[in-house]
Amino acid sequence: MVATPVLNFELDAYATPRRQLIEQSLEQYTAICDPESLWQAMRYSLLSGGKRFRALLCLASAEAVEALKPGGLTAVEAAMPCACALEMIHAMSLIHDDLPCMDNDDFRRGKPTNHKVFGEAMALLAGDALLVLATEVLLRKTPPQVDRQCLIDVAAELARATGPEGMVGGQVSDSIATGLVKTVEAGNQEEAAGGHPPVQTAQLLESIHKRKTGALLRFATWSGARLMQANEDTLSAFASFGEVLGLAFQIADDLLDLTGDLQSLGKTPGKDQAAGKLTWVSIYGEEGSRRALADLESKGKALLSESGLPDSSTAALRGLLSFAIHRRS
Ligand code: IPE
Ligand code: IPE
Ligand code: MG
Ligand code: MG
Ligand code: MG
Repeated sequence: MVATPVLNFELDAYATPRRQLIEQSLEQYTAICDPESLWQAMRYSLLSGGKRFRALLCLASAEAVEALKPGGLTAVEAAMPCACALEMIHAMSLIHDDLPCMDNDDFRRGKPTNHKVFGEAMALLAGDALLVLATEVLLRKTPPQVDRQCLIDVAAELARATGPEGMVGGQVSDSIATGLVKTVEAGNQEEAAGGHPPVQTAQLLESIHKRKTGALLRFATWSGARLMQANEDTLSAFASFGEVLGLAFQIADDLLDLTGDLQSLGKTPGKDQAAGKLTWVSIYGEEGSRRALADLESKGKALLSESGLPDSSTAALRGLLSFAIHRRS
């Protein structure tokens, strides 16, 4: 099994062996079945790299709690199916996000997007299949030693974080704000972007980011701790930490669209401005976005200090927060 977190935290030393385990598990959970072309499309996007940030967060939060409860099932064993389920839902969200009817992107993780290779119908269905496979993996592969009530809570929360209150709802609001989706209320006549008075724009933006990206990151930090039967104080601190981290992650993504390049991002930069997206950069500019990130980094660290866990236990989460904010890819 992987080494325990170290005090002088080195993110690469922490993440590399865990990423290997995540890749092995994802590979194992997606052995090709019938129809082969569907599994190939699913695996094309799921096993194409990516930072595995959500999976690492889930493992790190489980490990943070395990440090208080040595013995028995390891945190990595307990949380790995959940971590992989998260990556499956994330991969689905990326496949669908890249479709011509959404962000219309040609590159993802350094390769042509799913629909460019397999066609739009297959991309849609590969995303659907990953979405439901995630639930099956979580429920069937989580080891029997994990408390069943905790598992049910985690499965229910994963559905909530993914669905209309979470990622999917956020993606719809993002599309509405971009004017791609017509509101039902407007009788499909007006572009929805026009329906948001400027005074509400800042709130709308925050709510989009918290749902389209933040909800799954919040779930990642909360679920690892829940699977390890963390107490209410820790769960609440980890959920709030995940919210802060989730918002920061999307602000950093908005900034990278402005400052990054195709090679390091693996996706085409400059798309947000070209598409007229509502982003942190479009409202607050580059400097304003950097200030927001610095503020969120302090908030996130403070929340970890309030979790009731020793700093040595939350070192990986602190490292992942800094990575999310200062990353180049
Ligand atoms: C990209 O997510 C989509 C967002 C929610 C910003 P990541 O930046 O985590 O993408 P991968 O998984 O590393 O490819
Ligand atoms: C994507 O936000 C959020 C989800 C996929 C849920 P973006 O549209 O900004 O992500 P990228 O920039 O395409 O990765
Ligand atoms: Mg998008
Ligand atoms: Mg996109
Ligand atoms: Mg983006």
